[in-house]
Amino acid sequence: MGRLIKEILADILTRDELKDVISGFDVIGDIAIVKIPDTLLPKKELIAQTLLKNVKNIKAVFRQASPIYGEYRLMELEYLAGENRTYTEHKESGCRFLLDIQKVYFSPRLSGERLRIANLVKDDEVVVNMFAGVGTFSIIIAKQVKTSFNYAIDVNPYAYEMILRNAFINKVDDRVIALLGDAGRAIESRLLSSADRVLMPFPERALDYFPYAVKALKEEGGTIHLYLHVKSKPVNDVIEETLPKLSNPTKLKIDSINGKVVREVGPKIDQVVLDINLT
Ligand SMILES: C[S@@+](CC[C@H](N)C(=O)[O-])C[C@H]1O[C@@H](n2cnc3c(N)ncnc32)[C@H](O)[C@@H]1O
Repeated sequence: MGRLIKEILADILTRDELKDVISGFDVIGDIAIVKIPDTLLPKKELIAQTLLKNVKNIKAVFRQASPIYGEYRLMELEYLAGENRTYTEHKESGCRFLLDIQKVYFSPRLSGERLRIANLVKDDEVVVNMFAGVGTFSIIIAKQVKTSFNYAIDVNPYAYEMILRNAFINKVDDRVIALLGDAGRAIESRLLSSADRVLMPFPERALDYFPYAVKALKEEGGTIHLYLHVKSKPVNDVIEETLPKLSNPTKLKIDSINGKVVREVGPKIDQVVLDINLT
C-alpha cells in the first residue's frame, strides 16, 4: 500500500512532503485517514481528491485533526473528500469489524501484533483483554482458537456495543464476553484468578493497571502482554527499566520477560510489547 500511495501522490507533492504524508496514512475499511502537516494544509483537498480518485476501495478521506486524546483514545477528524461518513467495516485476519472511527479507537497498524498474540493462545485458555476497543484481539483469538474463552473489557459504551455486535457477526459471541467499565473494577469484581493470559493494549495506562492484570491470572500463573510507548532504545534496556515499576500484589513471581518493538509511533518513539510470564 505504501508504495502505491507514494506513486499516486508523487505527481502533486515534493519528495519531502511525500514522506510526511505517507507516514501518517491509514485505511480503515473503506475510509482513509491522513495526517497532513501544517505546511501542507493548503494542499489538503488536492491530496484527498487524488487519493479518492486513485486508490481502489477508498470511499472517503478524512484528516486527523488532533492528537489522540482522552480516556477513550479518540481523535478529531476533518472531512475532506468522498462520502461524508465515519462508519465502516474493516476486515482483518478473516474477521469483520464494524466501527465508527469517530467513536472508538482502532489502529490497522496492530494487525500483525494481533495475529502474533492469537498464534500464542493454546486450547482452552481463558484470555482477558483489559482494553478491548471494538474487540479486535479477542475476536481474532476466538475465531482462531475455537476452545479459548475471552473477556473483552472497555470503558467506552460505544466500544462495548461494538464488541457485542462484532462478536455476533463473527459467530464467536458464545466465546467472547463483553464487559463495560473500568478494567480494574471488572477484574476485582468478577475475574480474579481466572485467566491464563491478560492483554494490556493501552500503553498510556498499562503500568498503572499491571497489579490488576496479575490479580486476573490463575493461581498457577500465566502470561501478561504489556504494551508501552518508550523512547527508541534496545528492548533489553526497556525490560530493565520497566521491571522495578511492575507492582505485583500476588504471590506469583516473574519467571521470564521477552520484549519486542511492535511499531514506531513517533520520531524516535516506539510501541513495545513485553510478554511477561509469571508462575
Ligand atoms: C489503545 S485502545 C485499545 C485498542 C484495541 N485493543 C485494538 O486492538 O484496537 C485503548 C482502549 O482502552 C479503553 N479504556 C481506557 N481506559 C480504560 C479503563 N480504565 N478500563 C477499560 N478500558 C479502558 C479505551 O476506551 C480504548 O478503547
